[in-house]
Amino acid sequence: MKFAVIGHPIKHSLSPLMHHANFKALQTDDEFAALHIDPKHFHHLRDIIQDKAIDGFNITIPYKVDMLQIVDVVDTEAQMIGAINTVHIKDGVWYGYNTDGAGFKASIENYIGGKNIVVFGAGGASRAICYTLFKDNKVTVLNRNTNRVADWPFQIEAYTYDMSDTIKQADIVINTTPVGMDGFMSDDLIDISQLKPSAVVCDIIYTPDRTPILQSAEQRGLSIINGLDMFVNQGALSYEIWTGKKADKTAMKQAVINYLQRSTLC
Ligand code: ATR
Repeated sequence: MKFAVIGHPIKHSLSPLMHHANFKALQTDDEFAALHIDPKHFHHLRDIIQDKAIDGFNITIPYKVDMLQIVDVVDTEAQMIGAINTVHIKDGVWYGYNTDGAGFKASIENYIGGKNIVVFGAGGASRAICYTLFKDNKVTVLNRNTNRVADWPFQIEAYTYDMSDTIKQADIVINTTPVGMDGFMSDDLIDISQLKPSAVVCDIIYTPDRTPILQSAEQRGLSIINGLDMFVNQGALSYEIWTGKKADKTAMKQAVINYLQRSTLC
């Protein structure tokens, strides 16, 4: 079968190497390409994908929200999240899904259920994560602008970062802002020392593998989780939607780790 990831820009995407590692482990002859879609060609997307006989694809920046208007059928979770990261084409019908939230949830599965969860940021990634976690946990958002959660179709409490009491209660903290990503300012959003010693601190970023927030959490002896498992899990879930088969997540994760280690050595 033929798969792809589309975006603009796309050349730094690690999805092809991650999916190829899965194909190799499963001994399939599936293919996976990175397709650069210029915004001025986005309205031709259906033709482009059809010409290449693609069976399913992932969507990255900046098209996740626009895909809602392109597909024929939107899965409920994608609707609630307000974005599509996975399209499956079956008999010419385009089905849209979102595996980002479920991918994150799978990466913290050992820790969740009835927990106080505090999410930094209120963009698309935060909405996906909050949606998949809010039914079984108490989820609170901290953001510079608390109005950003107002139009979400599910209710989440939101405060600004100075609400230190929220942080003191947190069992799990998740950073979805770009603060600490390569090239972004690494100023701390909150004072990590206010967290409980048992708190788990997560970041959806995996380059660098330890963002400043994760570094200071680790220095204080807290458990930390970066975004690598989320990335692998969302890809594995997409593959499962496309094929109905379980992906080899160990092979996928190892391929990404190997690549990142090689690129740091260069
Ligand atoms: P994505 O869709 O990838 O989640 P996004 O929609 O751009 O990205 O959202 C990024 C989030 O990070 C936003 O909530 C943004 O805060 P605002 O809503 O106040 O703009 C937050 N963010 C970005 N840069 C930030 C910074 N320097 N400090 C704190 N929050 C920041």
